[in-house]
Amino acid sequence: PGSLKLAVIPGDGIGQEVTAEALKVLEVAAPAGVKFEPTRYDLGAERYLATGEVLPDGVLEEIRAHDAILLGAVGGKPGDPNLPPGLLERGLLLRLRFELDHYVNLRPSRIFPGVTSPLAAPGDVDFVVVREGTEGPYTGNGGAIRVGTPAETATEVSITTAFGVERVVRDAFARAERRPRKKLTLIHKTNVLTYGGAVWSRIVKEVGAEHPDVTVDYLHIDAATIFMTTDPSRFDVIVTDNLFGDIITDLAAAVTGGIGLAASGNVNPDRTTPSMFEPVHGSAPDIAGQQKADPTAAILSAALLLDHLGHHAAAATIEEAVIADLAGRAGAEPRRTAAVGDAIAARVAG
Ligand code: NAD
Ligand code: IPM
Ligand code: MN
Repeated sequence: PGSLKLAVIPGDGIGQEVTAEALKVLEVAAPAGVKFEPTRYDLGAERYLATGEVLPDGVLEEIRAHDAILLGAVGGKPGDPNLPPGLLERGLLLRLRFELDHYVNLRPSRIFPGVTSPLAAPGDVDFVVVREGTEGPYTGNGGAIRVGTPAETATEVSITTAFGVERVVRDAFARAERRPRKKLTLIHKTNVLTYGGAVWSRIVKEVGAEHPDVTVDYLHIDAATIFMTTDPSRFDVIVTDNLFGDIITDLAAAVTGGIGLAASGNVNPDRTTPSMFEPVHGSAPDIAGQQKADPTAAILSAALLLDHLGHHAAAATIEEAVIADLAGRAGAEPRRTAAVGDAIAARVAG
């Protein structure tokens, strides 16, 4: 169809700034005959503080009717007494991921040519983390009793279902099959989290038997952080649970040139709902409103969005424009957020 309905949720802090640049680039990248119809949703801290609303059911249903979602970041000013910690993260971001069944949280990582890694000799780094997006300790299955007393007791139960693990593991193996190295690394903590760990290990083994071409490897999460910093080029496809995937992808971003470059997609591979694309980073209150944020992660997330919708050439054009822009950055003065967006958009426009 000629029009793509895009729900745009800039959110909080630098989310506003980087999303403006991603939209700028999307507009010029639109393939011939395709028109973006963006609908802006003012969800986030400001709306909550003004109205008490986080994600009204009616708004969720409206968002559901779009082809894809572009999100900036969620998270208000730290320490705001009117904003309970996690309220927006859980009520907006995680609610979208859960309600829209984004079970594949796709986080590619590579060292682009010309980008300096903090590692002296990182090697050829190009891997993708397939982070489970709907389970683990994120589901809100927990609670607290005797709050404020010496007997205060809190739990956060990590949920691992065979259904949830199998679907994300199948997706990860399919991705490994499509990549030249065909290697899959399961990251978990099966030496301690023995119940959930057993589900992951068994399912990776079972699904792996259907993929004899794919080499399967396993690392405990603690050891994985060692290899992520000493030998990141060993990774090809990583499959992991929700929390380990959150942590390892910030580290992966740091190792591959910084959090300002790390893109992600919250994907529903069954395509029964719109998938959601967002930078890995948050609202960065420390630099918000100053035009200091790097919009590259948001722009690369827009490329992932196009790729997901089948516009592979347009996605590649954005990626090439980003790579060209990155090549000129070493040693240059830092640019304002909008200047980076303008430069990349100009390259996309040709
Ligand atoms: P953060 O990613 O916002 O910031 C971590 C550090 O990285 C900060 O120093 C920040 O200035 C820097 N940084 C982040 N993005 C950058 C960019 N594009 N360019 C340059 N520097 C950048 O993580 P945090 O400080 O832990 O979290 C801040 C808030 O964001 C919290 O409320 C958190 O819950 C939320 N958060 C939201 C998302 C999301 O919406 N997907 C992701 C992570 C954190
Ligand atoms: C991310 C963020 C979120 C997560 C938070 C804000 C809920 O850190 O997208 O990486 O933990 O998934
Ligand atoms: Mn994170």
